[in-house]
Amino acid sequence: MFPTFSFCLSLLFTLNFIQNTITSTLALGNETDNSALLKFKDAISNDPNGILVSWNGSTHYCTWHGITCGHKHQRVTQLNLDGYNLHGFISPHVGNLSFLRHLNLANNSFSGNIPQELGQLFRLQTLLINNNSMTGEIPTNLSSCSDLEDLYLTKNHLIGKIPIGISSLHKLRILWISNNKLTGRIPPVIGNLSSLIGLVIGSNHLEGDIPQEICNLKNLVMIEVVENRLYGTFPSCLYNMSSLTIISAGINDFNGSLPPNMFNSLFNLKKFTIGGNRFSGTIPISIANASALQNLELAQNHLVGQVPSLGKLHDLQLLNLQLNNLGDNSTKDLEFLKSLTNCSKLQMISISYNNFGGNLPNFVGNLPTQLRKLFLGDNQISGKIPAELGNLIGLILLTLDNNYFEGVIPTTFGKLDKMQNLNLNGNKLSGEVPPIIGNLSQLYYLNIRDNMLEGNIPPSIGNCKKLQYLDLSQNNLRGTIPLEIFGLSSLLLNLSKNSLSGSLPREVGKLISINGLDVSENHLSGDIPRTIGECIALEYLVLQGNSFNGTIPSSLDSLKGLRYLDMSRNRLSGPIPNVIQNITFLEYLNVSFNMLEGEVPIEGVFGNVSRLAVTGNNKLCGGISELHLQPCPVKETRNSILIH
Ligand SMILES: *[C@@H]1O[C@H](CO)[C@@H](O)[C@H](O)[C@H]1NC(C)=O
Ligand SMILES: *[C@@H]1O[C@H](CO)[C@@H](O)[C@H](O)[C@H]1NC(C)=O
Ligand SMILES: *[C@@H]1O[C@H](CO)[C@@H](O)[C@H](O)[C@H]1NC(C)=O
Ligand SMILES: *[C@@H]1O[C@H](CO)[C@@H](O)[C@H](O)[C@H]1NC(C)=O
Ligand SMILES: *[C@@H]1O[C@H](CO)[C@@H](O)[C@H](O)[C@H]1NC(C)=O
Ligand SMILES: *[C@@H]1O[C@H](CO)[C@@H](O)[C@H](O)[C@H]1NC(C)=O
Ligand SMILES: *[C@@H]1O[C@H](CO)[C@@H](O)[C@H](O)[C@H]1NC(C)=O
Ligand SMILES: *[C@@H]1O[C@H](CO)[C@@H](O)[C@H](O)[C@H]1NC(C)=O
Ligand SMILES: *[C@@H]1O[C@H](CO)[C@@H](O)[C@H](O)[C@H]1NC(C)=O
Ligand SMILES: *[C@@H]1O[C@H](CO)[C@@H](O)[C@H](O)[C@H]1NC(C)=O
Ligand SMILES: *[C@@H]1O[C@H](CO)[C@@H](O)[C@H](O)[C@H]1NC(C)=O
Ligand SMILES: *[C@@H]1O[C@H](CO)[C@@H](O)[C@H](O)[C@H]1NC(C)=O
Repeated sequence: MFPTFSFCLSLLFTLNFIQNTITSTLALGNETDNSALLKFKDAISNDPNGILVSWNGSTHYCTWHGITCGHKHQRVTQLNLDGYNLHGFISPHVGNLSFLRHLNLANNSFSGNIPQELGQLFRLQTLLINNNSMTGEIPTNLSSCSDLEDLYLTKNHLIGKIPIGISSLHKLRILWISNNKLTGRIPPVIGNLSSLIGLVIGSNHLEGDIPQEICNLKNLVMIEVVENRLYGTFPSCLYNMSSLTIISAGINDFNGSLPPNMFNSLFNLKKFTIGGNRFSGTIPISIANASALQNLELAQNHLVGQVPSLGKLHDLQLLNLQLNNLGDNSTKDLEFLKSLTNCSKLQMISISYNNFGGNLPNFVGNLPTQLRKLFLGDNQISGKIPAELGNLIGLILLTLDNNYFEGVIPTTFGKLDKMQNLNLNGNKLSGEVPPIIGNLSQLYYLNIRDNMLEGNIPPSIGNCKKLQYLDLSQNNLRGTIPLEIFGLSSLLLNLSKNSLSGSLPREVGKLISINGLDVSENHLSGDIPRTIGECIALEYLVLQGNSFNGTIPSSLDSLKGLRYLDMSRNRLSGPIPNVIQNITFLEYLNVSFNMLEGEVPIEGVFGNVSRLAVTGNNKLCGGISELHLQPCPVKETRNSILIH
């Protein structure tokens, strides 16, 4: 049964007719949308990527870049210009695009107010203006956009309050208005947003408490209120919202204790961060029931007591308890670390700045090997550093500083070849600095200051080619400074307050990036090498309390950035080089208690008695009058030439 030829012909004709009709409608377009879009374009002052070139009369607006139209009616339903670095303001004419459902202007540089006219877009479902420079208030008329589901205004300069009218947006799922300058309290009518799943209002100037009405939001998944001025306690209903995956409330002024049962129903909670508040009391044992937790951050509060077992938190990646008052300076304090050996995904643990005492148990070596950062500093931990710590081969950072550790630095640390940042300072460690430190080829920061270490500085330290900060000060280190140290690209080198002897080698000049060099209070002797002038980035040069002799090198004037220079209590002789006057940024110079002689200059640092110390050099003369030195003998011209 084939159709007749004439039928086919008439069908062809009909199709042709329809085709022509569509084309003509396309060519004409809807005048309202067309002119609204052109007005919108007019308000854009800079379009560096030429995105809007296509917005011209030669084609229908439905083909313009960023525009999507409805198939049937050829009206604009989507306007998407995300991330084109557009400058200018948002034209109020956008309110004439009455079929618009999705408006995305995110990641541009729009400024000015968000137009009230957006309120005319009663079909609007998503409004994304995040990451621009919008000022003024959130327009009250947005409350007319009753279909609005996603509102993203984060990262602008919006001021004023969260408008009460938003409570009529019953379909609103996401309210993302963080990183603005919004003030006032969280309006209790927020409880009317029955569809809300994400409330993200952090980094504003909001104050007051979290209103009880939030309890009505049965679908809430994420509440993020960080960095505001919120206070009071959390409404306890929050703890019954098993839908919640994120509670993020750090850096506010919340207080009160965490209720014992609070974690019993939070089965989906992945992130609980309340650092930087005034929470008190203990960490509830019920935390073990929040078995989905990945990020637990309770830092910088007033929490006390023992840390409960966290062994059931199998997904835990980050645990931050630092800056509280946890632990009782007792032997059982660190028992909870044992439970953490079950948390195989842990990447970071910080318990620094608490009151944890007792020994560091050997089972610390059973923590997961992909643990990257372990902060144990500033507690009361005593005893030996367990050799088992060397099992944690994933570590890039370890702090054990400011505790009461004693005994040696375990040689097993040689296995920690990813280590970048090692802090052992402020303990009672003894023995030698183990040569295996040279195995730590990624080491960037090494601080062993203020212990009781003895022996030589191991030359192998020169293998740590990435070492930038090396502090071995306040120990009993002896011998000469190994030349290998000067092959490092250090920024800071502190060897002060040891018993190092020999000279400061001329290789010191290889430290061309060094910013601070402190070898004070040792037994170093010989000249201050001329090559010191090659350390052109030096700002702090600290040499006092040694036995340096010879003259002060005039090469010091190459150190254009030098701010602090202490050469006191040495055996330096000869004149103070005049060129020191020319070190423009020198804020402090101490040459006291040497055997210097001749005239004290008067320019630069020498012009201000509060920045200068020259006492204890019997043969110095002249200088500014406040120094009360003897006047210099009137020299014959010939002599004065000799002196300079
Ligand atoms: C364009 O749309 C407006 C508003 O819906 C309507 O009043 C007008 O008639 C339309 N014009 C054309 C040319 O379709
Ligand atoms: C108008 O837009 C078309 C692309 O749609 C482009 O090829 C043409 O160069 C534009 N005309 C002008 C005058 O910018
Ligand atoms: C479009 O919007 C502007 C500004 O809101 C308004 O003045 C104008 O009357 C509107 N034009 C049309 C055709 O609706
Ligand atoms: C903001 O927009 C700029 C430019 O598009 C982009 O590079 C940046 O990643 C955006 N920032 C955020 C937080 O989205
Ligand atoms: C904005 O830029 C960021 C970063 O490039 C990107 O993740 C985001 O998807 C962009 N768009 C919106 C609407 O945030
Ligand atoms: C804002 O909303 C009010 C009340 O619905 C209305 O009278 C007014 O015209 C709207 N303003 C604009 C600019 O659309
Ligand atoms: C919020 O919801 C309550 C109860 O459903 C209702 O009585 C009240 O009028 C609503 N408030 C606003 C501002 O919509
Ligand atoms: C939380 O839920 C428990 C049991 O489901 C109930 O007894 C308690 O009253 C609820 N608390 C709040 C604050 O809603
Ligand atoms: C919380 O702080 C407020 C003052 O902001 C105070 O009145 C209240 O007693 C505190 N509550 C607790 C439990 O510390
Ligand atoms: C902690 O305990 C140790 C050993 O019992 C004790 O020596 C130390 O003084 C205590 N520290 C504090 C701050 O109480
Ligand atoms: C500096 O002291 C060394 C011994 O430490 C001595 O050999 C040298 O001669 C002294 N130099 C001067 C200039 O006093
Ligand atoms: C110190 O600087 C002044 C001018 O800045 C210059 O005239 C003088 O020669 C310099 N002195 C020395 C010793 O470099």
